[in-house]
Amino acid sequence: MLYDLIIIGGGPAGYNAAERAADGKLKTLLFESRALGGVCLNEGCIPTKTLLYSAKIYDYAKHSTEYGVSFGSASIDHAFVIERKNKVVKTLVGGVSAKLKKAGVEVVAGKAEILGKTAAGFTVKSGDKEYSAKQLLICTGSEAAVPGIPGLRESVADGFAMTNREILGMTAVPEKLVVIGGGVIGLEMASYFNSIGSKVKVLEMLDHIAGPTDREISTILQKNYAKRGVEFQLGAKVTAVGSGGVTYELNGKTETAVADKVLVSIGRRANTAGIGLENIGVLTERGAIVTAPTGKTNVPGVWAAGDVNGRSMLAHTAYREGEVAINNILGKKDSVNYDSIPSVIYTNPEVAAVGETSESIKEKGLDASAHSLTMRYSGRYVAENEGGDGIVKLIVDNKHNSVLGVHMIGSYASEIIYGAAMMVERQMRLENVREFVFPHPTVCEVIREAAFDIK
Ligand code: NAI
Repeated sequence: MLYDLIIIGGGPAGYNAAERAADGKLKTLLFESRALGGVCLNEGCIPTKTLLYSAKIYDYAKHSTEYGVSFGSASIDHAFVIERKNKVVKTLVGGVSAKLKKAGVEVVAGKAEILGKTAAGFTVKSGDKEYSAKQLLICTGSEAAVPGIPGLRESVADGFAMTNREILGMTAVPEKLVVIGGGVIGLEMASYFNSIGSKVKVLEMLDHIAGPTDREISTILQKNYAKRGVEFQLGAKVTAVGSGGVTYELNGKTETAVADKVLVSIGRRANTAGIGLENIGVLTERGAIVTAPTGKTNVPGVWAAGDVNGRSMLAHTAYREGEVAINNILGKKDSVNYDSIPSVIYTNPEVAAVGETSESIKEKGLDASAHSLTMRYSGRYVAENEGGDGIVKLIVDNKHNSVLGVHMIGSYASEIIYGAAMMVERQMRLENVREFVFPHPTVCEVIREAAFDIK
C-alpha cells in the first residue's frame, strides 16, 4: 500500500508529527522499534521527573521544621518510587497509543529500514514486509554516548556503569554513585540520589557544570549541591572505569573515585546507523542528519525532526520540529526559531533559561548587557524559601532595549520560563515587559522587578 507519509520513530518528534499529519488528512504510517513515547516518556524526561518529585517531597519533609511542621522522621522507599515511575510511564505510553489510534495513524511495532526510492515513492522494510510512501519523516532520536574510555563499555555491559536507561530501572540505592559528566542528566540524577542518601561525586571535564548555562546561574547551582554534600570534581579527565571505581586525571595527577555504581552522562548521539540513510543519500554531519529549520534534508521528500538532527536534543524542540515538518509537507510555510527555545534543569532549585547568556553575548560581540536580581524581591519566594539564593537575570540589547535572554534559578522557574521565551521570541522591549500585569504574589514577578531595576 502507498502511504502519504512514513514516520520512523515514535518519540515526541514522531508521535506528535503523526497526529498533526493525520489532522492534515495524510495517510500516515509510524514505525516504532522499542516503545511509543521514545526516550522522553520511557527513559528520560517523564521517569526522571517522577523520581525527582518523590525526592522533592522527601526534601520538604526533611526541612519541614524550618516551616513549623513536624511529623516524625521521614523516609523514602526507592523501589516503590521506581514502581510508581513504571506506572506513570505505562499510563502515558498508553495515552500516546490511544491518541494515535483515535487520529487514525497506523502503527507498526518494529524496526524500519529505508531500502530506496522508486517512481512511486520511498520503500521501507520492517521484518519481511515492505511499505511505500510519498514522503519520509525520520525521528529516530538519540542514545547515550558511551565512548571508548578503557573499561567503560565493559562496565556498562556488566552493570557497574549505567546510562540514563539502566539507572532509571535500578531499584537498589548505591552507597557511592560516581557521575561522569556534569550536564543535565548528570545533575538531575545527582540531585535525586543525593536526596535519597547516596554519596554522589560528579566528575566533569570542563571547569564548570551545566554546560552552556549562564555561568552565574551554574555557580549558584553548584554551591547549592555542594552544600547538600555532592562532591564536584571539575577539570577531571576520565581515563578508565572498572574494578569498583573511576580513574581520572586532574592537574596531571591520577586519582580514583571509588564507586558502587557509575552513571555515564556525557552527551548523546543521534541514531542514524542501520536505518538505510545511505540507500537514499541522506546527508549526515558528525553522525546527525543535516536539516534546515523547516525540517528538510538534502533529499527532496525526506524530512527529519527531533534528536536525530543533533540540533537541540530537547523533547519540546522535537515536538515543534515534528509539526514544522508536517506543516511544510502540507504546503504551509513554517520553520523553527532555535534562538528562543527554553531549557530547564529539574534540580532543586530549578534552573530555567532562554536565549543569550552573559558568556554568549561576549563571544558573539553583541552590544548587550546582563542584569541580575535576587529572587528575594518576590514576596512569595521569601515566604516559601528559607535561605533561598535564587536569582533572575535579564540579558538586554543596549540599543533596542529588547530582551535577548532570561535565566532563572529558583522555585517554579520551569513553569515561568515559557513566558520569558515569548519575550525573547517576540523581541519584546523592557518598556513592554514593564507594562504587563504579573499576578501577585508570585515568583514570576521578579521578571517585572528586574525590568524596573534596569535604569
Ligand atoms: P550534556 O551535554 O548535557 O552534558 C554532558 C557533560 O559531560 C558536559 O558537561 C561535558 O563537558 C561532560 N563530559 C563530556 N565528556 C566527558 C568526560 N569524558 N569526562 C567527564 N565529563 C565529560 O549531556 P547529558 O547530560 O548526557 O544529556 C544529554 C541530552 O539530554 C542533552 O542534550 C540534554 O539536553 C538532554 N536532557 C535534557 C533534560 C532536560 O531538558 N531537563 C534532562 C535530561 C537530558
